[in-house]
Amino acid sequence: MRTASADVLVIGSGIAGLTFALKAAAHASVHVVTKKERAASSTNYAQGGIAAVMSRDDSLDLHVRDTLVAGAGLCHLRAVESLVREGPARVRDLIDWGVRFTASGGDLSLGREGGHSRRRIVHAGDLTGREIEGALIQAVSEHPRISLSEDLHAVDLLRDADDRSGTVRCSGALLLEHRTGSLIEFRAGLVMLATGGPGQAYRHTTNPDIATGDGIAMAYRAGATLANLEFVQFHPTALYPASERAFLISEAVRGEGAVLRRKDGADLMAGVHRHGSLAPRDVVARTIDLELKQSGDDYVLLDLGAISRSDIERRFPGILAECADRGIDIRTEPIPVVPAAHYNCGGVVTDEAGRTSIPGLFAAGEVACTGVHGANRLASNSLLEAVVYSHRAAAYVDEELTRAAATAGQAIMDSTAEIALSAMPPNDSKDAGSLRNELRDLMWEQAGIVRSVERLGAAAARLVGLRGQALEVFHRRMDTETIELRNLVEVSTLIVTCARMRHESRGLHFNIDYPYRDNERFLRDTVVSDGNA
Ligand code: FAD
Ligand code: SIN
Repeated sequence: MRTASADVLVIGSGIAGLTFALKAAAHASVHVVTKKERAASSTNYAQGGIAAVMSRDDSLDLHVRDTLVAGAGLCHLRAVESLVREGPARVRDLIDWGVRFTASGGDLSLGREGGHSRRRIVHAGDLTGREIEGALIQAVSEHPRISLSEDLHAVDLLRDADDRSGTVRCSGALLLEHRTGSLIEFRAGLVMLATGGPGQAYRHTTNPDIATGDGIAMAYRAGATLANLEFVQFHPTALYPASERAFLISEAVRGEGAVLRRKDGADLMAGVHRHGSLAPRDVVARTIDLELKQSGDDYVLLDLGAISRSDIERRFPGILAECADRGIDIRTEPIPVVPAAHYNCGGVVTDEAGRTSIPGLFAAGEVACTGVHGANRLASNSLLEAVVYSHRAAAYVDEELTRAAATAGQAIMDSTAEIALSAMPPNDSKDAGSLRNELRDLMWEQAGIVRSVERLGAAAARLVGLRGQALEVFHRRMDTETIELRNLVEVSTLIVTCARMRHESRGLHFNIDYPYRDNERFLRDTVVSDGNA
């Protein structure tokens, strides 16, 4: 096996990984690896924008309050307060790196989304993610201390046990090079996991195909503490029909006045919530889900009649163009929409500096669970969280590299997969593609927007079999498809495990058998790690 090394290894080239790389390079040499092409990330598809207090009629207290209300009691107050406080400075970092946000008259133009009591969404039209990703990639490519490799797929994390203290440290990652099919043992003093979310676990998702939860699964196998994976956010408005990756119709469209309607034209959210179509995402997604089940319709309609043609053209050029490609003129016609899996509020538990429970391993962005989102993420707080935590983590590079240098380690051979393999059913002939499809259907049907004890139980039972089959195909042939399948099954199992541990309904987790909040028993995170899940 080939070996390689750098001071710092960053896994993932979305907003979290690239921001961290740019900051960490002030302290050390940084190598970024990404499993596909460099811009392939959820970041690249972000539409609405990044939430930060940037106007005089807004305040830090209001942003904190809105975040806490959305989070349904589970946000960590100090994490939210510091996130919001540091937000404006991190938006300015992005501008300094070359991101061109939409402005008018010298001021940033601020959009509005559900749950925000003020206009505070900094955006670049409705192509905010593409603008951010492009600028960060450019800045990284010009930086003398950062190198970036595409088509390098992290398979598992490497760990060392210190000879003297027995402490286990993360010391790198095992990477698969797609071009040659060979494995590389990549050693580093600090590893930043920035691998994004697991949206592809669901049949319908706004996430691109890279979103297979690899980092969550790798961290779990390495023994890290995880939390809150049951809180899967379903975005209410994905364009119908939703193909492999559903095209998102940004919440900012409802922020500008668009209204959700039944197919017969009635206002869908009237009488359901005081904020109508701009009610919290979980409420809107459940209302659409119920409407589709009761009516038998395939979609509901998003009516943009209240937004002027010129505002649509100026503010939503990406959505206008994509819908036009599909034969819908959104200036004159309503958009057919359905909910789709969008974001996971849970992930690898970190402290305020992005440190996980494994020394040497940091996590930032959607892979992480920092405590800021609680049971439901406020719109556009995800990009914000990624830049704030990446910035903070970089301040610990020197300290972490000193610790790594002082560790005289013995490599721990990772045998998780081999052990699991010995228990799997032999001779299953299904291929990775059909298993992935089966998994996505299973999660959509049994662990989706509305859950029940019976459905979650059925999902858990089938996942045991899928796990064995996924490991079998992974061991027969290690490639992108089988690595991702193994991880998707791992993360799906964790989502279902967490959902079965929470005997209440809160935020994004709704179980018809426990339809109420139970603050006495469940006003806490759902914590899992290998051995207790
Ligand atoms: P990503 O941007 O997903 O990047 C992950 C990176 O890791 C990718 O480069 C991927 O290829 C790489 N990777 C993954 N696994 C491996 C592996 N095993 N080995 C090597 N590389 C790997 N949030 C907002 O705040 N505002 C918005 O307006 C907004 N709009 C959104 C619109 C859409 C359509 C979607 C899908 C999400 C949106 N979100 C939004 C959520 C937000 O975009 C994401 O949560 C955020 O971009 C995640 O950034 P990240 O850096 O953590 O992960
Ligand atoms: C959107 O534009 O609706 C997505 C915003 C988000 O997920 O934060």
